[in-house]
Amino acid sequence: MKIKPCKNNIGAEINIDLLSTSKKDVYEIQKVLDEFGVIFFRNQNLDPQSYINFAKNFGELADYPMLKGLSKEFSKITVIERKSSDKGPSFGEQFHTDSSYTKKPPRYTMLLGKLVPPRGQGNTDFASQYLAYKNLPEKIKIELENLRAVFSSSGPISVTRLEREKEKGTGKSKDFQCSHKIIQKVNNRKTIYFSPGHVIGIKGVDPKKSRDLLDFLINHQTKPEFVYSFEWEKNSIAMWDNRAILHQATAYTGDRIMHRITIQ
Ligand SMILES: [Fe+2]
Repeated sequence: MKIKPCKNNIGAEINIDLLSTSKKDVYEIQKVLDEFGVIFFRNQNLDPQSYINFAKNFGELADYPMLKGLSKEFSKITVIERKSSDKGPSFGEQFHTDSSYTKKPPRYTMLLGKLVPPRGQGNTDFASQYLAYKNLPEKIKIELENLRAVFSSSGPISVTRLEREKEKGTGKSKDFQCSHKIIQKVNNRKTIYFSPGHVIGIKGVDPKKSRDLLDFLINHQTKPEFVYSFEWEKNSIAMWDNRAILHQATAYTGDRIMHRITIQ
């Protein structure tokens, strides 16, 4: 198993065939994931069952209430599809952390590229919130320590999901809302848990102060030095820890199909 850290040490690419992972391999993969927050694999020939089997090594598979699964048998695989005829932004085209508006957001998300743009187009960007926290001014760290932010499924990013729901929606879409601590401890390191695509306010501070803090945080969290932009190839996999990493799709107007699994 070869491990190659990506630019700025945000994420690491792991060279291994996921069809034949041993217990020890999974242990090592988990270690790299804990250290970097996001990992990548290339050239993986996984059918839906082997994709599910691999994902199960990291916890219980979660349901995504908003979009339909691949099939009845593989309901835990969500198909994220963009057609060249689709209008508007792509699904997830703003920095966010998945399902932050639920009480217990999935810990990990995996994406498998089935039909992808030419390499270098339609990248997924990842922003390390370990780094973002580390580089916060001390004064702000103290200010944020006990604050909670409120996240909503109708937050700024929801427009990108509503487009997808027209075709593949489950009809269960409703407004979910939840608050979470902004500063969280993950693997013994502090991170900023703050989803720009879903945040609607900060609890217990007046609206003006809430707005100022929110603007400051969103700008800080996604500074270029905390971001790695992953170039997709067919059969690439990205897997990240939603408590340590923000992600966003970037604009692409062609056809694209991703298979997504979330893990509780
Ligand atoms: Fe997402």
